[in-house]
Amino acid sequence: MSSVVSSQRVLSGMRPTGRLHLGHYHGVLKNWVKLQHELECFFFVADWHALTTDYENPQKIEESVWEMVIDWLAAGINPGSATLFIQSKVPEHAELHLLLSMITPLGWLERVPTYKDQQEKLKEKDLSTYGFLGYPLLQSADILIYRAGQVPVGADQVAHIEITREVARRFNHLYGREPGFEEAVEAAIRKMGKKQTKVYLDNRRKYQEKGDEAALESARALVNDQQNITLGDKERLLGDLEGGGKIILPEPQALLTPASKMPGLDGQKMSKSYGNFISMREEPDAVDEKIRRMPTDPARVRRTDPGNPQNCPVWQLHEVYSDDSIRGWVDHGCRTAGIGCLDCKKPVIDAVQAELEPIRKRAADHSRNPDLVRTIVAEGCEDAREAARDTLEEVRAAMGLSYR
Ligand code: TRP
Ligand code: SF4
Repeated sequence: MSSVVSSQRVLSGMRPTGRLHLGHYHGVLKNWVKLQHELECFFFVADWHALTTDYENPQKIEESVWEMVIDWLAAGINPGSATLFIQSKVPEHAELHLLLSMITPLGWLERVPTYKDQQEKLKEKDLSTYGFLGYPLLQSADILIYRAGQVPVGADQVAHIEITREVARRFNHLYGREPGFEEAVEAAIRKMGKKQTKVYLDNRRKYQEKGDEAALESARALVNDQQNITLGDKERLLGDLEGGGKIILPEPQALLTPASKMPGLDGQKMSKSYGNFISMREEPDAVDEKIRRMPTDPARVRRTDPGNPQNCPVWQLHEVYSDDSIRGWVDHGCRTAGIGCLDCKKPVIDAVQAELEPIRKRAADHSRNPDLVRTIVAEGCEDAREAARDTLEEVRAAMGLSYR
């Protein structure tokens, strides 16, 4: 990763699916909440991506957008720490998508595994559209327009980050060599002063001739530490080191989110379409009811039949919510028929209730105050646009489109 500017910037998005459930909370949102305190974060609603599959039913997208944003806020995403916005309110994504489409070979898009997989899976929809083929490239534009270095995603999205890296590489290769690049690099090197220049050139040679990674690292650090050269010069030097041109669009990295351990009520992955979820705003009575009704180890027909937690979805919830002492109590009590299944479920019910109480309250506050939610997002969109415009200006210039 070679950008000076934004390698620490985080970007991620979600398609608007409406209200979120505990699977989203444990799998994605808790991670976002943590990241927002550590790095500069941009989180957005991918409403255009929703249209690639739901173009026949676009009316439901709007409500889904706001319900999802409310759940993000309820989870603890803080607009003071992270920039929250909606994709379609930042049209710069679309312009970058268009420009990138000029240099993206069709084969790259056809070979992305999700392309065929999703067409198979969503057979009832006609996904032989231009927009759907371009799904990963739109995602590339989402990422590259912010020059994000880190993209938290699940394993299913890794192929999309990979194509993003390829597109960025191709872009830099084609357009990173501005006229006079070599001269500009020479001038920038000299600005570092005699001693530093020598260190830079030594390290560059060691890397370029022998592939010495440590030398590359030292040279990068040296460049990043320079006080008296411009950001543009820093980027030229970083591009020079790796033998490419200037790096206009840095290659992002997937920040793989560990697969959520959060099971659904039936032990399968928690999912809206399986109907096995607890929503983030589930009412206390419904939480109680849903967990009480959960299936347990089928061997425990009567209270006196011993069971095995390994065959029970409730155990998976204990793995998320309980400490060692409770788990020990469950394991022993289940195997000896010392406890009943309702006894066993009680600590899980309490833990879920405790977790949801503040979330539900924050969601209710935001639902009562839609103007505030809209203001938060409108401000996020403004900030996002500003960052996006910076990139787009450089992209246009690199592609020879900055005439007036
Ligand atoms: N495709 C992603 C998903 O389905 C959503 C998404 C769109 C995204 N653009 C993105 C995620 C950019 C990360 C970065 O989950
Ligand atoms: Fe499942 Fe607990 Fe009942 Fe054992 S005691 S079967 S772990 S609910």
